[in-house]
Amino acid sequence: MKLKRTHNCGELRIAAKDTTVVLNGWVENYRDHGGLAFIDLYDRWGLTQIVFDPQVAPEAHAVAHKLRSQFVIAVEGEVRARPDGMANMSLDTGEVEIYVKSFELLNKSNTPPFDIQHSEDVNAETRLVHRYLDLRGKRLQNNMIFRSKVTGMIRNYFLDQDFVDIETPILTKSTPEGARDYLVPSRVNPGTFYALPQSPQLFKQSLMIAGFDRYFQIARCFRDEDLRADRQPEFTQVDLEMAFVDRDDIMGMLEGLFKGLMKDLFEKDLKLPLPRITYDDAMLRYGCDAPDLRFGLEITDCSDVFADSGFGVFKNAIGAGGMVRAINLKGAAAKLTRKDLDEMTPFVKTYRAKGVAWIKMNADGPQSPIVKFFSEEESKALFEKTGAETGDVLIFVADSEKVVCQSLAALRDLMGKKLGLIDESELNFSWVVDFPLFEKDDNGNPTSVHHPFTAPRPEDEALLDTDVFAVKTNAYDIVLNGNEIGGGSVRIHDNKMQQKIFTLLGISDDEAKEKFGFLLDALQFGAPPHAGLALGLDRVMMLFLGTDSIRDVIAFPKTQKATCMMTSAPGVVAGSQLEELGIELAIIKDDEE
Ligand code: AMO
Ligand code: AMP
Repeated sequence: MKLKRTHNCGELRIAAKDTTVVLNGWVENYRDHGGLAFIDLYDRWGLTQIVFDPQVAPEAHAVAHKLRSQFVIAVEGEVRARPDGMANMSLDTGEVEIYVKSFELLNKSNTPPFDIQHSEDVNAETRLVHRYLDLRGKRLQNNMIFRSKVTGMIRNYFLDQDFVDIETPILTKSTPEGARDYLVPSRVNPGTFYALPQSPQLFKQSLMIAGFDRYFQIARCFRDEDLRADRQPEFTQVDLEMAFVDRDDIMGMLEGLFKGLMKDLFEKDLKLPLPRITYDDAMLRYGCDAPDLRFGLEITDCSDVFADSGFGVFKNAIGAGGMVRAINLKGAAAKLTRKDLDEMTPFVKTYRAKGVAWIKMNADGPQSPIVKFFSEEESKALFEKTGAETGDVLIFVADSEKVVCQSLAALRDLMGKKLGLIDESELNFSWVVDFPLFEKDDNGNPTSVHHPFTAPRPEDEALLDTDVFAVKTNAYDIVLNGNEIGGGSVRIHDNKMQQKIFTLLGISDDEAKEKFGFLLDALQFGAPPHAGLALGLDRVMMLFLGTDSIRDVIAFPKTQKATCMMTSAPGVVAGSQLEELGIELAIIKDDEE
């Protein structure tokens, strides 16, 4: 190319008037205004109006009409002020235009399959196949540039705090974080496999034992799990670990990070310390462990009111060891129609709830299909407990604790949105703390809530022998607008305790030795007390940018079926490659299962 740029397409202002400049970029559109021809030329910095005038450059003007959207060109021309009344103040370069003296066609383009700058309504598949074009659009470019900037700030924060940035292996052994592993066969050791890391968990603990004291890494993690809008099979963590610390040190370190980010990115003053609620409290009041605290609509347990109720559904649920809980939708009576209320029942079916009962607190008395079954005392106690007043709507779910929590949590989010209680511009951070160490798996056996390296609270250690499900941890999740954006814990640094936890998890000594022998060994060589946390960087970016999918903040994301539409990964491989790996395929088709 002969014409190398002197400026980018977002840079020129009126002060550059009368100078000669060279711009490089893509043609956004071509407009012929009889005589003069205009194009908008853009690059990642912005857009500048280019004018082809037959009086100024007849040769250039004569061929300008051949330019099409997405052609790549270099133009040399004179910066002029736009004529009176023609300035475009919504554009940074809107006071100037470039009168072309000469131009160079650097490359042509096929007609793009969609309008790059307005791709919102284009089908997702087409956009993912041509991801490089979608990424050329302003929205995704801004997202990626924002991400780069924030990642830089995060890196600087931890470096300033004397953390050491250390890369850990991608070809490694399984670290259990609750998902399936992605496996990579080893050619050199036939029949064996690496696992891609679900997180750097065991490496960062090893680095604490190695004396690095403060470690961080922007780390890629891989999890073969069902995908959702906030989950990708490969995603990025801001992973950190510190030695000689307790829970509050880690939480304080993260609070410092977010305070700085909120100030630098949004000029907002984040109040510290961030609110903390316990896991038990979160489940009781919000039905989930990552509550959206931008609005109220708290859950009230009403089981004691209905233990002997004349309404069989409630009484029976309680009798079966379940519960009745309610949400008071304050002032919603005028806003919710009968249809809105009836639609809640199919909505909660996903969570296995059998129905949603409701009471509309009308001025002429409660309106409800169920109130007729309540005694006067029950109604009185209920209204008192839930604070129900004229104009409110009470909604109820009666079932097992799990079903009640999940359905009311989902209804709460739904109603928060429907009733317009959410300030979309707010970024609401909180901590959820004091998680249980174990929960029950499908067979009622203990399984880790976080991961098997999380330490029980010292005061709860005795419970490990008597009531494992009552044991709490110094684990903490950080929540932003109802999304879990990070989690961590104080770790076990004692070999005996680690072995004990493995045993409680039903991991035999042999299995523990085979899978985590190196950790059990390392714990015997002066492991310091340590703790850490990992942030889900993609989720943080998604919420900071106010988009509703982490795909929007990942340059080359995967689909729901974990495929890359652009490269067509995963793909089949040559028989010779499999042979080298000592692998034979036996694809099981559905109808053969
Ligand atoms: P955890 O499993 O909670 O903890 O992961 C930390 C954070 O990573 C994000 N995250 C994801 N983001 C996108 N796609 C996914 N599939 C995905 N899975 C998780 C979440 C989550 O809060 N080793 C521990 C951390 C520690 O104990 O220090 C760990 O990985 O925002
Ligand atoms: P029914 O007696 O089945 O007509 O139910 C009366 C009302 O109770 C309806 O509004 C149902 O949606 C609701 N309902 C049914 N089962 C439950 C349940 N398990 N929890 C809460 N409400 C329920």
